[in-house]
Amino acid sequence: MKTYLVVILLAAVCSAFVAVNNAADQIPYPEGYHKWTNTRTFITGYENKEPKKGDGFHDTYANDRAMIGYQTGHFPDGAILVFDVRTAVTTEGTIAPGTRKHVDLMLKDSARFKDTGGWGFEEFTGDSRTEGRLSGERQKNCFNCHAGKKQTDFVFSQFKE
Ligand code: HEC
Repeated sequence: MKTYLVVILLAAVCSAFVAVNNAADQIPYPEGYHKWTNTRTFITGYENKEPKKGDGFHDTYANDRAMIGYQTGHFPDGAILVFDVRTAVTTEGTIAPGTRKHVDLMLKDSARFKDTGGWGFEEFTGDSRTEGRLSGERQKNCFNCHAGKKQTDFVFSQFKE
């Protein structure tokens, strides 16, 4: 009976540790990003009969700290950039955004993400605040491509007024 209790206790302690650890790794959903600065909009693949995964409406949003980065070329800690991807719905003469495919984001925290240029990468599926999160391997894949943009602090887009 005693051993049984110890095992249960150990399991509880372990799962609490795992929960805390996961929370520490996670980048929060960028609540309210629609009210930030919309820095860029473009549509891809609207002529494709069968749209590819990345096709659709793309909107980039920047919080106030990220706007400092666009202006100075160096994004300070706390900067968040959002890449919001929605389907493109074509009707006669109009291309409009449809349902949300996913929300990608980059959060600057130089100490926490020192192996990936100071940026943490995350993804959310559709309108979900929990689904679609990236594994460590997939976060590295994001960075591997963004790594080519070292001269602009690993950010592709520019802000034009
Ligand atoms: C194959 C290259 C590539 C990969 C992989 C990639 N990105 Fe990007 N990303 C881009 C390009 C190119 C842009 C700019 C698109 C534009 O505005 O024309 C971009 C833009 C962004 C932006 C807006 C800020 C900026 O750099 O302009 C965010 C946020 C972002 N990506 C997050 C991610 C996340 C999260 C992942 C992994 C799930 C990821 N990216 C994977 C190429 C890539």
